Amino acid sequence: MQKKLLELDHLYKIYGKGENQTHALNDLTCSVLEEEFLGIMGSSGSGKTTLLNCVATMMKPTRGKVLLSGKELSKQKGRELARYRGDRIGYLFQTFELLDNMTGRENILLPASIHGVKEDLTKEVDRLAEYLEIGEVLDKFPEQMSGGQKQRIAAARALILHPDIVLADEPTGALDSKNAKQLMEKLKQLNEEQGTTIMMVTHDANAASYCSRILFIQDGGILNELRKNGEDRQEFYKRILSMQSQLLGGSANVF
Ligand SMILES: Nc1ncnc2c1ncn2[C@@H]1O[C@H](COP(=O)(O)OP(=O)(O)OP(=O)(O)O)[C@@H](O)[C@H]1O
Ligand SMILES: [Mg+2]
Repeated sequence: MQKKLLELDHLYKIYGKGENQTHALNDLTCSVLEEEFLGIMGSSGSGKTTLLNCVATMMKPTRGKVLLSGKELSKQKGRELARYRGDRIGYLFQTFELLDNMTGRENILLPASIHGVKEDLTKEVDRLAEYLEIGEVLDKFPEQMSGGQKQRIAAARALILHPDIVLADEPTGALDSKNAKQLMEKLKQLNEEQGTTIMMVTHDANAASYCSRILFIQDGGILNELRKNGEDRQEFYKRILSMQSQLLGGSANVF
């Protein structure tokens, strides 16, 4: 049996105070196995980004624990926490978040310079660039790149320090279908060939069909789960669509 890489144990996140409280995570418990490609789906406001941010230690859950390889994140401090943020997780956002005044290569190397990595990563950048088909834009600035190229530069940045887990928040949300497909195929390949664990929030059933398991979130809790079993991607895609319409009483498009 595969080991648990990440465990979320009775997580609560409450924003605001008094009458303005929002219960964004409400007793959410789940785990992510090593080498898993986990999808998170749910309607807008259901708590998906909050969940990723708690895992990324960008925010603290109000209650409950997040454990990575059995170690509780909130107990980590100083160097250990910096190391977790630096090279155990990689984060891929919907809107790329590249720095405009840096080239593709410099953007990719940003996590290494932030975290004081001294090793020469030139070869690693070239390897990732070949893999993600961004060699030709490495020395260009973001404004000279297409949306798909920007997102693949951002993917290389998320991967440069070989994280154990990549957290992706709607990585295809700002891409057209061709670029979305290319990104998803690369992520899938990375998951299968290099064993990188991926936790990806998406509204898109097509993107979700690349996952091996999908959790459906509602009101900050887990409502349901789908697992891919021997079927091809097209079949899984149909099951995802049908689950979406089932959960939302036929209004799949609000996902
Ligand atoms: N900083 C904040 N302060 C107060 N409420 C917040 C804050 N961030 C999120 N919320 C609320 O918490 C709930 C969950 O938000 P979250 O961003 O996690 O949803 P989401 O599932 O990622 O939605 P979307 O699909 O639109 O990105 C929402 O009701 C939202 O309004
Ligand atoms: Mg969100």
